[in-house]
Amino acid sequence: MRKRKSGRSWIDRQQKDQYVESSRRSGLRSRAAYKLVQINEKYNILSKGMTVLDLGCAPGSWLQIVGQRVGRNGLIVGVDLQDIQAVDGAEFIQGDFEDPTIVKQILNVIGDRDLDLVISDMAPNLTGIRITDQAKIMSLVENVWLFSCNRLRAGGSLLLKVFEGDGIESIRSDIEGSFDQVNTIKPAASRKESREFYILGRGHIVDTRLV
Ligand SMILES: C[S@@+](CC[C@H](N)C(=O)[O-])C[C@H]1O[C@@H](n2cnc3c(N)ncnc32)[C@H](O)[C@@H]1O
Repeated sequence: MRKRKSGRSWIDRQQKDQYVESSRRSGLRSRAAYKLVQINEKYNILSKGMTVLDLGCAPGSWLQIVGQRVGRNGLIVGVDLQDIQAVDGAEFIQGDFEDPTIVKQILNVIGDRDLDLVISDMAPNLTGIRITDQAKIMSLVENVWLFSCNRLRAGGSLLLKVFEGDGIESIRSDIEGSFDQVNTIKPAASRKESREFYILGRGHIVDTRLV
């Protein structure tokens, strides 16, 4: 079970948090939007007309940011276990990214377009048992990496949320083997006490054995 966001300290922290306040003022659905904004400010991963897949998109703040940057000529596809309120200009698929029928639906929506960018902010429901949780996290990130290796165009990018723990060095080295440039990023909007950080791979190298 995911940890419940309850208790006075969570409420106090939300009230003091500058990103919670700015997201409310800007009509963004979550403070998480600022993580993508900050990553994009530095690495410029979003541009007009792109085809973007957003994995773990609920409630939809990354979709909002992607929509603003990619514009009407792009294609944006969001996937999440939970339902979301529609985001203008984005297609949404509800389901588990690790379910092959959901992957088929994603591929149907993308059709014959080239996928320019995969962004994954997915965080699995945690049990509180460290070994089990880390295994779930690693399975999810490895599946995103494999999907991206198969489906990203040459030169495309992958932004992947990961959590400190066993196996992270191995996924980082997998990504280093399939992208020209790899960066490890902890955006200012990511809470210091959180084990999350992001790996960004740019310049996808297409492995012709997979084509
Ligand atoms: C931190 S939230 C994402 C916030 C989002 N980036 C935003 O800006 O609104 C993580 C999401 O990952 C989703 N998720 C976790 N595992 C998933 C899976 N296997 N397939 C699809 N979505 C998943 C959860 O349902 C949750 O909504």
